Amino acid sequence: MVIRQQNDLGFESNVHLHGGYVTAGHDGHPMDVIAAGKSFEYHYPNHQDAASLWYHDHAHGRTSRTLYYGLVAMYVLEDDLERELDLPTGDYDVPIVIADHAFNKDGSFRYVENVDLGFRGDTLVVNGAISPRMRVERRKYRLRFLNASNARSYTLRLGSGHVMTQIAGDGGLLERPVRRRSIPLHPAERIDLVIDFRDYRPGTELVLQNTDGSGGTVAIMRFDVVRGGGEDARVPRRLKPLDPLPKPVTSRTWDLALGTAAWEINGKSFDPDRIDATPKRGTSERWTFVNHSDRVHPMHLHGFLFRIMERSSGPVALADKLGWKDTVGVLPNETVSVLAWFAPYSGKYVFHCHALEHADKAMMLQMEIV
Ligand code: C2O
Ligand code: CU
Ligand code: CU
Repeated sequence: MVIRQQNDLGFESNVHLHGGYVTAGHDGHPMDVIAAGKSFEYHYPNHQDAASLWYHDHAHGRTSRTLYYGLVAMYVLEDDLERELDLPTGDYDVPIVIADHAFNKDGSFRYVENVDLGFRGDTLVVNGAISPRMRVERRKYRLRFLNASNARSYTLRLGSGHVMTQIAGDGGLLERPVRRRSIPLHPAERIDLVIDFRDYRPGTELVLQNTDGSGGTVAIMRFDVVRGGGEDARVPRRLKPLDPLPKPVTSRTWDLALGTAAWEINGKSFDPDRIDATPKRGTSERWTFVNHSDRVHPMHLHGFLFRIMERSSGPVALADKLGWKDTVGVLPNETVSVLAWFAPYSGKYVFHCHALEHADKAMMLQMEIV
């Protein structure tokens, strides 16, 4: 797909396809911007498994603002393997983009910079509406959740703790569905759930809650179950064969926020003229993120996917073991190891914390795949 982006913002911006396998020149590297009034044609090969990707501005130092003010959308990739599975489609396959906001009296967004925590709003906005209601028929729905918040993490719970079936994560379908009652969703992560509303009588109102929230950030949205809904979808027991784990050729450790108040990685902040790692194309490496702070740092690699191997806080969630990821929430004082697979493309890409105020303050390094 070729998308021509015309920049009419009056300042530099660009577009990054988050989770996409995209050549370096089209990735939306933070220094690779479209000048005001100019345009650029992004080439997206779409040579990857079906997945819920998304895209957003990535001009360096400004991303926390531009995302907050709305330069965010989902990019849903489908493929034949997925189509053969009879998962819910069409009206029953619904993207749900969650962000927290604050408002001025005139209804405009209010942005207050908070470099420590990242922006925290007092109101949840779902696909542009405040805590909306969705009428659902008594059948299965596929709901594709994206946490497009600047820095807020959520834990999703349906009603009083009903079962939700996770079928996909950042990198697309899991090896098999996983039933969960409580699901963490850190900034930039995606989770596809199938919820079977046949389990509820017509008239049932189910609130999707954020158990990490308080006040206006608890209720995310409400599902109102109505009559009707012939079922033609199913969730097979196997979704997608899990690729064998590649053998790492080397290991690297990234110290997050070590010993200073600044948001740095290995004591460094982003320098576009410096290369911080040079993985070889087609190889895999074990990367360990060590969080020395009491903030969550959702670490994200551009251009490549990884598998979560180990967490110091406890076992890796089953759903995270059964699929590929591009972002992982590294919890306060936690150590997380991932196995990253540096294919298919070579070139310069960044990796960074996706708490956007941290990324804008340069909690981002650069790798060159050689
Ligand atoms: Cu959502 Cu640098 O990415
Ligand atoms: Cu990205
Ligand atoms: Cu961070």
